[in-house]
Amino acid sequence: MKKQIIVSGATGNLGKVVVGKLTGLGYDLHINVRNSAKAGDFDPAFVSTYEADLTDADQAEKFVSNAISKAGRIHAGVFLAGGFAPGKLEETTVQEIERMINMNFFTAFNLIKPLKAHFELNGGGQIILVGARPALVPAQGAASFAYTLSKSLLFQMADMINAEGKKTNVSASIVVPSIIDTPDNREAMPDADFNKWISPEDMAEGIAFILSETGSKMRETVLKLYHKA
Ligand SMILES: NC(=O)c1ccc[n+]([C@@H]2O[C@H](COP(=O)([O-])OP(=O)(O)OC[C@H]3O[C@@H](n4cnc5c(N)ncnc54)[C@H](OP(=O)(O)O)[C@@H]3O)[C@@H](O)[C@H]2O)c1
Repeated sequence: MKKQIIVSGATGNLGKVVVGKLTGLGYDLHINVRNSAKAGDFDPAFVSTYEADLTDADQAEKFVSNAISKAGRIHAGVFLAGGFAPGKLEETTVQEIERMINMNFFTAFNLIKPLKAHFELNGGGQIILVGARPALVPAQGAASFAYTLSKSLLFQMADMINAEGKKTNVSASIVVPSIIDTPDNREAMPDADFNKWISPEDMAEGIAFILSETGSKMRETVLKLYHKA
């Protein structure tokens, strides 16, 4: 049976490359879009699209249940949706913390909640999340307080899923980039040495390995793709 995978953030800089890599490997993908016009960027032979804003728990739940109805069985979720915001603690408002947690934590949690139940009823499954280095190296987090806090929740959630998932064959892995070499980052940091950054292709390769036969046997995986940055 072809592996059926739900992907969030597929329309983003990393997401587009991950979609290319995973469809190239023969996986069937189920992705959400927030703007239906973006569905046209994907080949419907390999990618099924569903409209959902993932900060909305009902829309996320509907996305997962529609994908399950179409696929019959989902084997993995690759959750890339998220976003960055700078700002030190002194400058951070409660609203900004809520915005970052919505964007980086709830977009994943709202998918994991229904998908974990599906995995547990069907012999297991894999969850892959994208963390951020400052969540592991607090000294780097001062300049992006709310963002770092929101990403740190993903590590805690993955640990809890892995502890419980030992019995149910549900695993959560986190891929941690330094700086991804995207057009947005090049524009924001024009004087940086882009060769030190991690490419979206390398990120996609890492994700593909986690989904592979061998990779799916790894547990409590935190894959640090820092390259030279
Ligand atoms: N770029 C980096 O250097 C870097 C470093 C560390 C971690 N990361 C993480 O890597 C992931 C991908 O980064 P990227 O550079 O590819 O970002 P990106 O180009 O900004 O893409 C973000 C993606 O998330 C989706 N998204 C955001 N909010 C959403 C919501 N409420 N509901 C549904 N989808 C939503 C966006 O959808 P739309 O197309 O609808 O906007 C888009 O597909 C993110 O989680 C990011 O935090 C990136």
